[in-house]
Order: sequence, then C-alpha cells, then structure tokens
Amino acid sequence: MRIGSVTLPGRVVAAPMAGVSDLPFRELARELGAAMVCTEMVSAEALVRRSGRTRALMRYAEGERPVSMQLFGGRPAVMAEAARVLCDHGVDLIDINMGCPVRKVVKSGAGAALMREPTQAAAVVAAVVAAADRPVTVKMRAGWDATSMNAVAVARACEQAGAAAVCVHARTRGDGFGPQRRYDVVAAVKAALTIPVIGNGGIDSPAAAMHVLAECACDAVMVGRAALGNPWIFAAIRAALRGAAPPVVTLGARRQALLRHLARAVEVHGEQLAVRRMRKHLAWYLHGLRDGHRVKEALQRLDSAAEVAAAVARYFDRLATVEATSGCAAVEVGE
Ligand SMILES: Cc1cc2nc3c(=O)[nH]c(=O)nc-3n(C[C@H](O)[C@H](O)[C@H](O)COP(=O)(O)O)c2cc1C
Repeated sequence: MRIGSVTLPGRVVAAPMAGVSDLPFRELARELGAAMVCTEMVSAEALVRRSGRTRALMRYAEGERPVSMQLFGGRPAVMAEAARVLCDHGVDLIDINMGCPVRKVVKSGAGAALMREPTQAAAVVAAVVAAADRPVTVKMRAGWDATSMNAVAVARACEQAGAAAVCVHARTRGDGFGPQRRYDVVAAVKAALTIPVIGNGGIDSPAAAMHVLAECACDAVMVGRAALGNPWIFAAIRAALRGAAPPVVTLGARRQALLRHLARAVEVHGEQLAVRRMRKHLAWYLHGLRDGHRVKEALQRLDSAAEVAAAVARYFDRLATVEATSGCAAVEVGE
C-alpha cells in the first residue's frame, strides 16, 4: 500500500493513542507486525511555542519508519508552521487529527470540531500540504453525531485539499468510544475517494479486520485498543491476510515483550515516569492470565523498575511451572 511517496509494508497499522502510543509502545508494535505506527497527538500551538513536553512527545526511533506524527490544531497558519517543524524533525508523514472528542480540544476548534466545519478542515489540510514536502494524512470520525454523519463530504474536501490518505474511525464524536461501528460510513468514504482509505474502530481480532477490509473495501485497517497488552494482534491480522493461522504467543514471548517494554520505557522516560506509565500496560498484558488480576494489583504498588521486573519474572516463572506440571494453559480468557 502506498500513501503518496511512502510505501507501507502491510495493511494493518497501529492507532495513535494519547498517553499510550509512546516510543516504546510504537517500537514494539512495529516490530511485531504493524506496518505503520503513529505518535500520540501533538498540539500545533504548543509545538510552535516550543513547549518542552511537546518536544518529548516528538521523540521517535529510526526503527519506527515510516514515522507518522499527528498534529492537532484548528488554525491553518499555526498548523502550517508546526508542519514545517515536523519536516525539519525528519518525520515521513504528517497526520491531522479530526477525531479527538475531548472538550478542551474541540473548544479550540481542533480535533472533531473540524468535522463540523468542512471548509475550515480543508483550509487546515491545504495549509499543511503547502508547508510540508511529504504526505499529509487525516484521521477523522464518521461525523459529529448521528444527525451529521458527513465523513464523505469532509473526506472529499480533504482529498481536494491535497491529503494523501484518510483514516475513518467508524464512530461519530457523539459515539465516543462506545460499541457503535459505522462501517457503512467507511465504505462510503472509500467509494467516494481515489486516495487510500484506512478503516478504524472496534477491530479486535483477525476476523474483525478481514470483515472490515471486505465490507468497506478499504486499503488498510487501524487497530487501537485491541493492541493494548496484545501487540501480537498485528501479526495475527497479517497472518489472516495471508490465509495463515495466527502465530502462537507463548508465555516466554509475553514475558520477554513485557520486560523489554519496561526496560525501553525506563530508557525513554526515566525510571519514575516509566514505572508510572507502565502500570496500565502491565494490567493490559496480564489480562486473561491465571491470577493476573492479583499480580496486577501488587505491581501497581511498586515504585522501582527493578522491583517491577523481578515481580514480573517471578510471576511468569510461576505460570511456567503451573503450565508444565498441570498441562493447563496459563491463558484463561481473551485468547
Ligand atoms: C487512550 C486513547 C487515546 C487516544 N488518542 C488518540 C490520539 O491522540 N489521536 C487520535 O487520532 N486518536 C486517538 N484515539 C483514538 C484511536 O486512535 C482510535 O481511533 C479509537 O480508539 C478507535 O479504535 P479502536 O476501536 O481500535 O480502539 C485514542 C483512543 C484511546 C483509547
């Protein structure tokens, strides 16, 4: 699949997730089969003010390439300036957020607010495209709410303004992150555009990915929450696309991924922040494992990376012994 000048090595990509898709998460997702990963959203306004926190969000590793960095903002001139900074920073693609439902973001005219202002949305895209000498993509929702599902109109406007691809989250801003899956809207956007369309929302298994690819005829799928604690979902979907069975995820592979994720988080964020950020990842990784809930609680109370790593190693040793002696799989649910 190609997005402008960038070729993706597959049809399943990882979703941008603020507070989650940091550098260690993205590296792991990419290594385990995601064809592209995207940074957490970065405020264009903060970026042009050179905020230190924003700079931290912009860190990436060469192994992630193609690097897609997501901007949010509603003012074309500021978005253009931010895009120039991202180009100097060496990213491969710039993604524009038109889906964020957070009140503060929407009030500033950014995120999902742009779904209500197709002309402004197109102006933002045009400004970023003019400023950036690399592909610009847009991640949007199906619409603002059930009474204004205008993704087709907004996507057309974005394409005309120079977007190289769009990703459609199959929910409106009003749907939040609930059970609604408006894949008919993704299909309608795909039918209306000539640029690649990525389908997103509720894709939590290889079967779901195959269903969305078939029903929407979209070019790729994007997985968000189903990859939390389960970065192997990318390889499983890739296997399904080849007609193959998903790779088996052994206890050893889980343990290794978790410990590597922790170690990389310490390198990237420093120990204190890494241990804090890893608490939610630990809970996700242990979900569905025997006694996982009890261990999760104990892990939340630890403050040093060495203590967390030792507790994780002890827990997985115990699981391996149980598996070996009882012949029962340590994975209880969710597989
Ligand atoms: C914790 C969290 C943070 C998110 N942050 C972003 C973000 O920064 N930018 C964005 O475009 N979407 C963001 N999203 C939306 C996801 O990219 C995705 O569109 C949504 O979760 C639907 O996909 P899923 O059903 O596979 O999770 C976020 C979602 C979650 C759960």
